[in-house]
Amino acid sequence: MSAPEVIDDPVAAGRALREGRLVAFPTETVYGLGALASDRRAVRRVFAVKGRPPDHPLIVHLPGVEHLERWSSRVPAAAAALAEALWPGPLTLLVPRAGDVIDEVTGGRTSVGLRVPDHRVALAMLAEVEGGVAAPSANRYGRVSPTTAAHVVADLGADVDLVLDGGPCEVGVESTIVDCTGEVPEVLRPGGIDLVRLEAVLGGPVRRWTGDGPARAPGMHAAHYAPSARVRVVDHPDEVPAVVAALAEDGREPVGVMAPMALAGLDPDVVELEPLGPPERFARVLYDRLRQADRLGLGSVVVVAPPATGIGIAVRDRLARAATGSRAQPPR
Ligand code: TXA
Ligand code: MG
Repeated sequence: MSAPEVIDDPVAAGRALREGRLVAFPTETVYGLGALASDRRAVRRVFAVKGRPPDHPLIVHLPGVEHLERWSSRVPAAAAALAEALWPGPLTLLVPRAGDVIDEVTGGRTSVGLRVPDHRVALAMLAEVEGGVAAPSANRYGRVSPTTAAHVVADLGADVDLVLDGGPCEVGVESTIVDCTGEVPEVLRPGGIDLVRLEAVLGGPVRRWTGDGPARAPGMHAAHYAPSARVRVVDHPDEVPAVVAALAEDGREPVGVMAPMALAGLDPDVVELEPLGPPERFARVLYDRLRQADRLGLGSVVVVAPPATGIGIAVRDRLARAATGSRAQPPR
């Protein structure tokens, strides 16, 4: 696979987007695979490169909160309040789409997803573009999202025209998605901003989509964010030895372990990855560690999850999906 050009100049990246080229760019969450949001041909190419079904909508990235009205036919009060308080930041708002937003971006839906990333290089690129940049995470469909320029190059090669390198992503898991089109705002995907923070801004309840009923955001399948190694998630270090033994019994070797802290008394055959640390750091390095598991050729990896508060909620969500989607798992 030949390599794309990697640059660090956001103005040149913005110019390339305006010319209809595909540019992978950094955000505080994960790297995005960007196309000019008004360019049907470029947006269609994003779907082709990712191998993503055409009815899964893309998030439009904007250079500032003042652009919100331009993209929405009616800005709901909750969306205005959340944007004002939390943009730039790891938060995507679903609002009723403006009439000229193309179907290729929204998957033909009546809503559009918008976000202003909290990343200096991304904002400089977006300011150069002026319009919006439609972008999913810059990975192949169903796989682990990239958090460095090197991840993007390894995944997409020369299928992307240009990679803008802005260093490793600070947050490490994707944005929180809040649907603001209904009576009560609803979180469709937990992410970099937690429910407590959203409710504090709104001074009222926010609903959390529980996973029952039809998928609210296409692409939010159970199986996603998956490495090739089989992933098993546990809550406590005490559970690790039994799970390791069961995986070895199953022929899922070599077995790796990743946890917030160093673990004592592991079987010498087990490959212990460097501890991931407290929840914020756990989130930041998670996707790189899942990729490392594949680079090491692990048959399976046991993950001790962080507690279900703050960013830990988003981390546990991604781990659960990675566990469902691992390639090594027999089809169900
Ligand atoms: O942090 C992020 O959100 C990253 C960075 C690059 O911004 N982007 C990202 O994009 O994670 P993607 O495409 O991998 O995930 C976006 C999710 C998809 O599940 C998509 O279906 C959903 O958001 N989505 C986007 N617009 C939507 C809409 N109008 N209605 C329902 N779901 C929508
Ligand atoms: Mg994605």
